[in-house]
Amino acid sequence: MQEKIELNQDFWNGLWKNSLTGWDIGAASPPISEFMNQYPDKDAKILIPGCGNAYEADFLVSNGFTNITLIDIAPIAAENLKNKFLNTPQIHVICGDFYQLEDQYDIIIEQTFFCTFYPEDRRNYASKAASLLKENGEIIGVLFDREFGNSHPPFGGNKADYIQIFSEYFDIIKIEKCYNSISPRANSELFIRLRKK
Ligand SMILES: C[S@@+](CC[C@H](N)C(=O)[O-])C[C@H]1O[C@@H](n2cnc3c(N)ncnc32)[C@H](O)[C@@H]1O
Repeated sequence: MQEKIELNQDFWNGLWKNSLTGWDIGAASPPISEFMNQYPDKDAKILIPGCGNAYEADFLVSNGFTNITLIDIAPIAAENLKNKFLNTPQIHVICGDFYQLEDQYDIIIEQTFFCTFYPEDRRNYASKAASLLKENGEIIGVLFDREFGNSHPPFGGNKADYIQIFSEYFDIIKIEKCYNSISPRANSELFIRLRKK
């Protein structure tokens, strides 16, 4: 049996240090930017957990959003962002663990963060995300609609898995195949919109 890697700060910072960031698509994910583009409340309090290079944050600021928090556990990623957004008061960068965060947001944006957790730990993500949302707060974003067959991240899944994991804490507003994924992820992403119960 393969040893289970501990997905802690050292693990993630090591990937950043060695530029093993193959998940990075180099721009805001189109399903997310398209959704946020029509989101009416520009002052919504937004959290992007496991944000990496946080291209969605650039998109949000360019489109008038005023209150965005980014959190990443890897100091290298967080330092990059602190430098990049030094003169961007709309963005607050935290180097830390999503599970230790204590605040409340209107929206959590999910982009290749959920897939980093072992499948058996996914309910913890759902319950923590619910605790970080205000009443009627929502997770919006994308989840993989494919399997990877890995014993390390990313871990895949499907709509039925996600409904089971999230429905204890969230009303499922939408989980449907993305029509606007970038081409390397075409047909392998679901757009999700989940409202806190
Ligand atoms: C697969 S990467 C995705 C990064 C970014 N969302 C993207 O799509 O480019 C996952 C990110 O989550 C961060 N991360 C992992 N566990 C975390 C945790 N418990 N709290 C905060 N960030 C975490 C990692 O350092 C890494 O930058």
